[in-house]
Amino acid sequence: MQPDDDTYLLDNAWELARARFEGLEAASDAESIANLQQLGVAPGWACLEPGPGSGSIAAWLARAVAPGGRVVAVDLDPRHVPRDVPGLEVVQADLRTYELPDGHFDLVHTRAFLVHLPQREEVIARLARSLKPGGAALFEEPDWSTDAPEPEAPPEPAALYRRVMAGLMRLSRERGMADRFGLALPAAARRAGLVVRRTRAYTEVVQGGSASARFERLTYLQFQAMALAAGVAGPEEYRAFLDLFRDPAFSYVRPLICCVSATRP
Ligand SMILES: C[S@@+](CC[C@H](N)C(=O)[O-])C[C@H]1O[C@@H](n2cnc3c(N)ncnc32)[C@H](O)[C@@H]1O
Repeated sequence: MQPDDDTYLLDNAWELARARFEGLEAASDAESIANLQQLGVAPGWACLEPGPGSGSIAAWLARAVAPGGRVVAVDLDPRHVPRDVPGLEVVQADLRTYELPDGHFDLVHTRAFLVHLPQREEVIARLARSLKPGGAALFEEPDWSTDAPEPEAPPEPAALYRRVMAGLMRLSRERGMADRFGLALPAAARRAGLVVRRTRAYTEVVQGGSASARFERLTYLQFQAMALAAGVAGPEEYRAFLDLFRDPAFSYVRPLICCVSATRP
């Protein structure tokens, strides 16, 4: 994948991709499951999970909709999604061009997916049309507006964190990621013709060494070559930045995860 390709920036073939997804799941699954339970996911439902990563939520959904239900998990590279879960169909495809049936699904769920797609507006509209009337969407997408080191962090690591994160956000924006997308989700869902039912957001004061910090460290480790090539930081500075995520004495606020439930009228 070329850095200027407008497709997903972080390759699932990377040797630490699975560990990265496990960090994300450890940091987010409990909230996602509570949000899905709040929607009343039930046996028999047909569900769509675009961009499942390593598929913990797709697998949870498949168990929740049994008997009689079905989950379709569509990923550019679904190599980490389990293949042995009854009711879970794994599809290798680009969701931007994958043909979706009209009025078919009871539930569509995304997490940390739309934020990466420059075509997110059209994709949400297509996801909305794939829902049955009365069907529900749950979008859980990040927003970096709260991102900051803790106020009492020593000045040097705090400045390092701010400087490198600003460069990484600039780089990600240039590649089509929308770092303020989470807060724009309710409006995007309304434009797609959905009725917004519930809007929640959560974050975490992340301590270096925790599951969330592991996920973020691996994300920025995967970005390293691109970040160095773009001049975000020098190699030593970047290494010191990555080390912050392993330092239990360093804390920062994780991006806000905005969770929007909406239904098709
Ligand atoms: C940050 S991961 C999120 C994984 C999972 N949703 C989670 O929260 O644990 C984004 C996933 O979306 C997939 N993806 C990115 N662009 C895609 C596209 N255009 N079509 C299908 N999958 C895509 C990636 O391969 C990756 O598995």
